[in-house]
Amino acid sequence: MTAIIELDTQHPDPALIQEAASIIRAGGLVAFPTETVYGLGADAMNERAIRRIFEAKGRPADNPLIVHVCDRAMLDLVATEVSAKYEALIAAFWPGPLTLVLKRKPQVAKSVSAGLLTVAVRMPRSQIALELIRQARTPIAAPSANLSGRPSATTAAHVARDLEGRIDMILDGGATNIGVESTVLDITSEPPVILRPGWVTREHLIDTIGRVDVVATAEELKRSPGTRHRHYSPRARVVLVESGSSESVEQLCKDLLQEGTVGFIGHSRVAIDNPKLTAIVMENTADEYARSIYSALRELDERGVNVIVVEGISEEGEGAAVMDRLRRAASEAE
Ligand code: TXA
Ligand code: MG
Repeated sequence: MTAIIELDTQHPDPALIQEAASIIRAGGLVAFPTETVYGLGADAMNERAIRRIFEAKGRPADNPLIVHVCDRAMLDLVATEVSAKYEALIAAFWPGPLTLVLKRKPQVAKSVSAGLLTVAVRMPRSQIALELIRQARTPIAAPSANLSGRPSATTAAHVARDLEGRIDMILDGGATNIGVESTVLDITSEPPVILRPGWVTREHLIDTIGRVDVVATAEELKRSPGTRHRHYSPRARVVLVESGSSESVEQLCKDLLQEGTVGFIGHSRVAIDNPKLTAIVMENTADEYARSIYSALRELDERGVNVIVVEGISEEGEGAAVMDRLRRAASEAE
């Protein structure tokens, strides 16, 4: 049985959070909202609890988890010392959507790091998440709260759809603000490397610490094992039309309609009158795409469309994170 508890996002009822915190302390699983996407949380220091996360999600054991802390002091429980240069990142971006990969402490459950000598850590901005970690009095490891490979969950209903019956509790704090996952930055290497683009952009990071690289080669990608697996994917095939491409999304939809039902997600109006087409039109901004993309992919999947055409956006600024997720959703890998 999965209890679903509704909470006020700004002033969550401490008694309800206390219940969730007791579940975490007892080795259970609680899904909770962060400012990016919903997370599926367990005590980061409890190996058995962490294994339950991998089971509930069907997550490959070689894909490490992000540990969530509620203050700077808690970071020292899971990671070794941070140099002054990188304290500046914490000061500038925490709480917020920046995950730092650091050298781990041995107290962290082994499976959290999937065998690596490092641990990924962030301090989320959501009041519900912060209060939950505070009351649990332990760092909380939490991957995105979706079945492995599926689009991430940005509402409690998405979490329930994937994980009801597999986890102990879902804290419902409404739709998340940002909608795509945090930036993952490895600061164990010099210069530091972005392993996953996110809402904190490369430009933001460079403004704070100078040179920052972006993971490029397959060899480097091995450092972020999770990025190898199929990700963010609905059941339907996804066809992505990159921004600036000469291909007309309208013509593409028409062609695909010859073969079956089609979903469209984009910012252009497609003037096609055909009951086999479901169109979800949104503003041409990274904000709007980030907030809506996972729920749009899920909605079209619920309708059972055969193929989903997605119109891409510019890769500038936060657009890089959105396009990273869309390319992975459209890739045929694994
Ligand atoms: O916004 C987010 O980051 C959300 C919320 C819930 O905080 N979490 C999230 O977790 O997206 P997940 O498990 O879906 O993605 C974690 C990413 C994966 O790409 C994983 O490979 C990488 O972080 N990661 C975790 N630990 C790592 C480590 N020690 N070294 C390199 N990459 C790591
Ligand atoms: Mg994920």
